[in-house]
Amino acid sequence: ALERTILQQKINSLKKEKNAVILAHYYQEPAIQEVADFIGDSLELSKKAAESTADIIVFAGVHFMAETAKILNPSKKVILPDMQAGCSLAESCPPEAFKKLKAQYPDHVVVTYINCSAEIKAMSDLVCTSSNAEKIINSIPAEKQIIFAPDKNLGKYLIQKTGRQMLLWDGSCIVHEAFSLDKLLQLFREHPKARIIAHPESEPQVLKVANYIGSTSGMLDHVKNSDHNIFIVATEAGILHQMQKEVPWKTLIPAPAKEDNTCACSECAFMKLNTLQKLYTCLEKEAPEISFSEGIMEQALVPIQRMLQLS
Ligand code: 13P
Ligand code: SF4
Repeated sequence: ALERTILQQKINSLKKEKNAVILAHYYQEPAIQEVADFIGDSLELSKKAAESTADIIVFAGVHFMAETAKILNPSKKVILPDMQAGCSLAESCPPEAFKKLKAQYPDHVVVTYINCSAEIKAMSDLVCTSSNAEKIINSIPAEKQIIFAPDKNLGKYLIQKTGRQMLLWDGSCIVHEAFSLDKLLQLFREHPKARIIAHPESEPQVLKVANYIGSTSGMLDHVKNSDHNIFIVATEAGILHQMQKEVPWKTLIPAPAKEDNTCACSECAFMKLNTLQKLYTCLEKEAPEISFSEGIMEQALVPIQRMLQLS
């Protein structure tokens, strides 16, 4: 604990010295969330990155998030504690394969979930996050056909919500596919007053039993504003840190994972590659830094900006 406090103090002084800002996603470990200047969902973090006046943006999240920050604010140095912090969704959608699919349907509008690489964003008409996806889909003229990538679970949910048929890429989030419906229902029987809340990356059978479905920030707001006092939370367990801080008197239970999972709840191994120590080292060395070819950056900016205008 002492080591943690010392590291946090060092990070805070380096932050001032270097005019850096730390943006953290809710799935980061609590020690990182505590030194963050801002914690949010993907959309909020993108907006913060776009408007940041700091010289350095330390992105405590995964690679696609840091990449999006760089695209939105290219004159800033964007650093990520661990370059290996990827995402199963982003990995499921390699640019070459996606290019082939897109070529088969040249008239389709391409909407991509922000959890994808810059190359995929560069091939997209619109980007969306879990908090604005419905609005983005509804903004597309009814006569247009849509390709949605890479998350099939979010895609299926959006088809159901908007009534729009969409061609779905076969990608998914390993963390949100780890929940066990049987164990979830068993837990619910033990806590019949509980409300089940879920992230839309979860599988259809989980979403079917959820009382509320939304982004990480949406789930947090829901728990804060609801009259209910017990919640079963089906998303990455890191969210419980901020949630419990906001509503210390409410009971929050992480949704249980399937038998073969490494932890009883569900954690994102990619997100957890970032540690407080790596955060300190990266701020000290100002590396590893996000960089990529100019062409991709400019092309990827267009659909992200369209998203920001619509949300
Ligand atoms: P949101 O915070 O936008 O809901 O995204 C969840 C997620 O899985 C990020 O990787
Ligand atoms: Fe990707 Fe899922 Fe991890 Fe989010 S929780 S970074 S979607 S693997």
